[in-house]
Amino acid sequence: MTKMKSGIFHFATIFILTLEIRIQLSDESEFLVDRSKTGLICVPKDIPLKTTVLDISQNSISELQAPDILSLSKLKILILSHNRIQYLDISVFKFNQELEYLDLSHNKLEQISCHPILNLKHLDLSFNAFDALPICQEFGNMSQLQFLGLSATQFQKRSLLPIAHMHINKVLLVLGDTYGGKEDPESLQDLNIQSLHIVFPTGKEFHFTLDVSLSTAVSLELSNIKCVLGDDGCPYFHNVLSKLQKNSRLSNLTLNNIETTWNFFIMILQLVWHTSIEYFSISNVKLQGHLGFRDFDYSDTSLKVLSIHQVVTDVFGFPQSYIYEIFSNMNIQHLAVSATHMVHMVCPSQISPFLYLDFSNNVLTDMVFKNCGNLINLETFSLQMNQLKELAIIVHMTKTMTSLQQLDVSQNSLRYDENEGNCSWTRSLLSLNMSSNILSDSVFRCLPPRVKVLDLHNNRIRSIPKDVTSLEALQELNVAFNFLVHLPGCGTFSSLSVLIIDYNSISNPSADFFQSCQKIRSLKAGNNPFQCTCELRDFIQGIGQVPSEVVEDWPDSYKCDYPESYKGTPLKDFHVSQLSCNTALLIVTIGVTGLLVAVTVTVLCIYLDLPWYLRMLCQWTQTRHRARNVPLAELQRTLQFHAFISYSGHDSSWVKSELLPNLEKEDIKICLHERDFVPGKSIMENIINCIEKSYKSIFVLSPNFVQSEWCHYELYFAHHNLFHEGSNNLILILLDPIPQYSIPNSYHKLKALMAQRTYLEWPKENSKRGLFWANLRASINIKLMEKSKELSYTQI
Ligand SMILES: *[C@@H]1O[C@H](CO)[C@@H](O)[C@H](O)[C@H]1NC(C)=O
Ligand SMILES: *[C@@H]1O[C@H](CO)[C@@H](O)[C@H](O)[C@H]1NC(C)=O
Ligand SMILES: *[C@@H]1O[C@H](CO)[C@@H](O)[C@H](O)[C@H]1NC(C)=O
Ligand SMILES: *[C@@H]1O[C@H](CO)[C@@H](O)[C@H](O)[C@H]1NC(C)=O
Repeated sequence: MTKMKSGIFHFATIFILTLEIRIQLSDESEFLVDRSKTGLICVPKDIPLKTTVLDISQNSISELQAPDILSLSKLKILILSHNRIQYLDISVFKFNQELEYLDLSHNKLEQISCHPILNLKHLDLSFNAFDALPICQEFGNMSQLQFLGLSATQFQKRSLLPIAHMHINKVLLVLGDTYGGKEDPESLQDLNIQSLHIVFPTGKEFHFTLDVSLSTAVSLELSNIKCVLGDDGCPYFHNVLSKLQKNSRLSNLTLNNIETTWNFFIMILQLVWHTSIEYFSISNVKLQGHLGFRDFDYSDTSLKVLSIHQVVTDVFGFPQSYIYEIFSNMNIQHLAVSATHMVHMVCPSQISPFLYLDFSNNVLTDMVFKNCGNLINLETFSLQMNQLKELAIIVHMTKTMTSLQQLDVSQNSLRYDENEGNCSWTRSLLSLNMSSNILSDSVFRCLPPRVKVLDLHNNRIRSIPKDVTSLEALQELNVAFNFLVHLPGCGTFSSLSVLIIDYNSISNPSADFFQSCQKIRSLKAGNNPFQCTCELRDFIQGIGQVPSEVVEDWPDSYKCDYPESYKGTPLKDFHVSQLSCNTALLIVTIGVTGLLVAVTVTVLCIYLDLPWYLRMLCQWTQTRHRARNVPLAELQRTLQFHAFISYSGHDSSWVKSELLPNLEKEDIKICLHERDFVPGKSIMENIINCIEKSYKSIFVLSPNFVQSEWCHYELYFAHHNLFHEGSNNLILILLDPIPQYSIPNSYHKLKALMAQRTYLEWPKENSKRGLFWANLRASINIKLMEKSKELSYTQI
């Protein structure tokens, strides 16, 4: 037990020292070498000459000699604590003229030989194995000395003489475990120091008579006080404290590592109550026994701040309410009782002067200060890390604390049920810490109306309800580590300047955050699962438009989480094009492109008759295709003509002057029934004959043709034939447009063919006629065989 206690104490000392070093390190010109905890058994030889700070603490170095550090002429700070040095000749530092800070604590030093080091400000020889105080005459010349750490198991008043006249800021005196307390109790009285810290031997009952009440001291710290024997309290320590009453300069008292009874503990408080002490701090206390001491005398005190930290106690054998009453009725402004397993605290019996109460890290429940109207001066109250459960009850508790400005109820198990009780916080509350609870969205329906700083991080909030009453004063909101999906706007928080919302589930923060939150000067929204799609673009742009210091942790903590292909990409590197994101723009672009195409097509149609060309091209390709599929050899055998032409007598001039010359000049054989007339056969027979011997039948369509009965028959035969043969041997040339209505209803074949628009149109423009002829020729072009060749062909 005692080992653990002194361990804690050692740790605290090291911590303080480290802090001091850090302060001194703030100068840019320092060059630090840290070889602590590296298993060294001697001072390393390879330390750079420019080293100003050398830390070789926590090793196994047993010796320090001049050559080790001789060359380090710039050395200012040397930390050698926690090694095994037994002997030290201070003259080894005679070439280290800059040395200001020398820490030799926690070694095995038994003896030193003296030499003045004039610049030394900090010399720590505490926690060593000295019997007598290691104080040289030469110390008296170290006029800069601010801190002196000593240890001894015995001392004489005269051994302190060399430093008696000095204004040393702080002296630490560690009394070794074999310290017997045989010296003159007045030994320390001549010291002229501000701050004294005495460490008594660990594990020993306090039987010391040393008078620690120095007339010059402002601050006194005493460690290791064990008073557990005897029922008459602790006369020796009682004596020590009683003597403090005569020192009116002393304002700070700190007691560490106390093991005593409840009675004596309260007695200590009582004794200190009547001194000049203003700040009283007690830590690491172990208490046992009963409390018989009831009537605490609060009168006539200078005390302002009482802080009690870390108390363990036996099972209570008496009503604890006595203790609570003693604390709650204290007439001081600041009270801290933390890490003490305190389960309850009662209401002060009259209006209390408490301004500040810190009850963190206890086991207080919702019952604390229930219906208590006497804390009307309280401004700051911490109930951090207790066992609070119902927010509504805590809200009710504050109702009468009409001065309360800051409340910390973080690290409890608070939740808020909207249906339970009224939510009327004290109107004075400005800062509320409800972090690390189990609050959900409903908490937004129960917030102090004038709150400026609100910490709700690490709760179970999924969304901030839209209809919450506005918190116009809210300046700082921390909702990190929740489950929020959206970045809230500042509609209801018109003064918001700091928003911390990292570690939530926000995938698509909306860009109008920056518009809505004009007063924002800090946004911390990193470590959310950002979905890198178009919606995020605007948000990223928004970030680009605010001053760079506004967005905290940018760009490192802002990464895409989705889609998979972007996972891990920093948002600052995520780019998508304007076009692919802007729907309106996309529609406009498509529209414009479409329009351009339409205009082009129209122009082509109107001025160049594109459809006609297309139709011709289409027919030409179809013809080529069909020609390939027909079993030609079969056809070629029976055919004598390429085409039979049927036309109305009215169109004969066109046929003779245009059609025939244009076809026949390409060796295309045409059967005209009047020209290739076989005598002795009727006209009908001649026509049929002609059709049968021709590869194709060409019909020259015009209104005249439709009028002619003959023509209809011809068409009929041709069509008939067409179906019989199973091949399309019909070619229609539309010489003049035929209005659909002018075709008699009985000509349904013709109507059907016209409707299919499978005809070649005779172009009026000369320029187009070349293609017309080519098309026509292509559709009737077939190689006709001579009779003789046909025979020889069949013979093979
Ligand atoms: C040290 O102080 C003594 C008096 O205490 C004085 O005689 C001596 O000269 C001083 N030495 C140095 C080096 O200042
Ligand atoms: C006394 O304690 C208070 C509070 O801890 C501190 O602010 C002040 O600096 C201390 N004074 C001295 C002289 O140590
Ligand atoms: C709220 O309390 C937690 C500890 O529980 C602390 O870390 C945090 O800084 C506090 N918030 C504010 C705004 O002080
Ligand atoms: C809520 O407040 C009203 C009026 O202040 C009061 O009548 C009612 O009893 C309160 N309810 C609870 C559950 O505290």
